[in-house]
Amino acid sequence: TQRVFSGIQPSGGLTLGNYLGAMKRFVDMQGQDYETIYCMVDLHAITVWQDPAKLRHATRELCAGFIAAGIDPEQSILFNQSAVPEHAQLAWIFNCVARMGWMQRMTQFKDKAGKNAQNASLGLFAYPALMAADILIYHATHVPVGEDQKQHLELTRDIATKFNHDYGVDFFPITEPVIEGAATRVMSLRDGSKKMSKSDPSDASRINMTDDADTIAKKIRKAKTDPDALPSEAKGLENRPEARNLVNIYAALADMSVEAVLKDAGGKQFSEFKPILSELAVAKLAPISTEMARLTQDAGEIDKILDRGAERAREVAAPILKKTYEIVGMVGA
Ligand code: TYM
Repeated sequence: TQRVFSGIQPSGGLTLGNYLGAMKRFVDMQGQDYETIYCMVDLHAITVWQDPAKLRHATRELCAGFIAAGIDPEQSILFNQSAVPEHAQLAWIFNCVARMGWMQRMTQFKDKAGKNAQNASLGLFAYPALMAADILIYHATHVPVGEDQKQHLELTRDIATKFNHDYGVDFFPITEPVIEGAATRVMSLRDGSKKMSKSDPSDASRINMTDDADTIAKKIRKAKTDPDALPSEAKGLENRPEARNLVNIYAALADMSVEAVLKDAGGKQFSEFKPILSELAVAKLAPISTEMARLTQDAGEIDKILDRGAERAREVAAPILKKTYEIVGMVGA
């Protein structure tokens, strides 16, 4: 079978980048010939300190976000990472397979740890080994993510290859990253060279999935642009990162290609294009944020969905962990 796995950290709110780069694509894959497994990666979130009450809230809100965006918890398996202990158990094995040098090359670690890497948690350093375990504990074959996760997925392939080689088995699959569509890298609305991120100090740099219609419209109106009209072909967006970003966002929201967007919008000034983009963004995002807020209120119902998801996830994960322990030589596995 073709099995899809992906995860999102419950650390703060969801951004338009998370939605277009990941969640919307999770929904697209759900309808197809895949078994789909989606996870709130709370163990990853605590690689930097999280307030426990906020972590609980963010996990439930993220679960509500998945459902509001179109993930059906019957059709897909939807759960939080810590509820399936096999993730952490396999991660330990992978800590012993991955090499220090591989981890040191991870650009996300370097970015997140900053200048004072000695003070970063050991968990932040080992983060990609846990991510490999998330994927491989299900023998997932396809992993939809945004562009920023590409290096981690290459490491996942390296870990699978080295494990198979070291133990002389053909056990873990070599996973395919699925980095597709117009919005694999949604950029900051204030700076076209920076990724849109929930950790950016400026709230105006991002659209949050919880923003109301007026806030979305205001942020798009104020988004940085250049003074030229939109080009009529994609190559006209070269060296225009802010223009490219807004066109990419439009294309992803409308399920259109960039070329098709520019066929209509080519020649328009931003003063004309921005209101059209705002209208589309509000039309697509407002129903999701309303539903997300409604679902978040019923924590009991969310917890039931997560419990059931974790139970189904464990049915897949437990035999794969057992087999891994046997391969490695653990007595009693
Ligand atoms: P996280 O929580 O930072 O982001 C979740 C997903 O959103 C994508 N994304 C973006 N896509 C386009 N433009 C952006 N500006 C943008 N910002 C975020 C990310 O690429 C990601 O797909 N390490 C992962 C979580 C994870 C995971 C996994 C993913 C843990 N285990 C196993 C896949 C498979 C992360 O921190 O994502």
